[in-house]
Amino acid sequence: MNNWNTAQNYGRIARWLHWGTALLFLLAYCAVYYRHWFTEKKTPENLIALDLHLSAGISVGVIVILRIIWRLMNKQPTLEAGPAFLAEKVQHALVHFAHYILYAIMILMPLTGYLGTGKATDYFFLFEIPKFEDTWLFDVFVWEYLGLTFEEFEAPIDFFHKEIMGAWLVWILIVGHAGAALYHHFVLKDRTLIKMSKGQI
Ligand code: HEM
Ligand code: HEM
Repeated sequence: MNNWNTAQNYGRIARWLHWGTALLFLLAYCAVYYRHWFTEKKTPENLIALDLHLSAGISVGVIVILRIIWRLMNKQPTLEAGPAFLAEKVQHALVHFAHYILYAIMILMPLTGYLGTGKATDYFFLFEIPKFEDTWLFDVFVWEYLGLTFEEFEAPIDFFHKEIMGAWLVWILIVGHAGAALYHHFVLKDRTLIKMSKGQI
């Protein structure tokens, strides 16, 4: 199986990056809502769930950089035709737009999560990543240049991360994206899902 993308299939590396990201999103969501719904504040499970959320989210932020580099170095497989009522050019423009939105999510969620969290991350319980408030960037940019305390700075960022994106937009867009893939596979019966899986199912 080729590491590089071809006109027919995503290569091994693009597929690992794609499905690895999907698993990390799942972990980030399961951890944060397990924390909300099934744990008491300040218990060990509550903190473990939070650190799992932060670790999964930060990993997405690192992987998206690799993903962008890999995408720029590779050709993109040819897109399949979508529903017949849309002209092919419009369909392809919409698919590209949807993929760019997913990239925006993969950048904005880890970034707003990190900037708005007043706690260091125990990264998968292996080592510690300092919180933003303890970095020189916070001192120089937020404290000296903007003249804000951490609480003033994090409030709007937190609102965006939790209330707007996390609670609604992100999962709706991801479910829409996965739904479109399944629609192609089971209804249109084309190679959309196949080229992002083994290339031969
Ligand atoms: C893939 C990236 C991420 C996604 C999809 C994501 C999603 C979410 C969601 C859905 C929530 C709960 C929203 C609600 O209250 O309904 C949340 C809360 C939170 N996120 Fe993230 N997040 C990501 C990355 C991060 C990162 C990198 C950090 C920090 C390093 C972070 C820190 C937090 C914190 C502190 C909360 C509040 C936790 C709580 O109230 O229990 N997130 N995030
Ligand atoms: C169960 C969940 C998912 C399924 C079934 C799925 C399926 C697919 C399929 C079949 C493709 C190929 C589309 C084509 O070339 O026409 C694709 C591409 C893509 N997916 Fe997903 N996906 C899932 C989750 C995610 C998540 C969580 C993200 C990120 C937030 C994501 C981001 C992307 C992006 C950006 C592409 C474009 C190709 C690339 O640049 O890597 N997907 N997905």
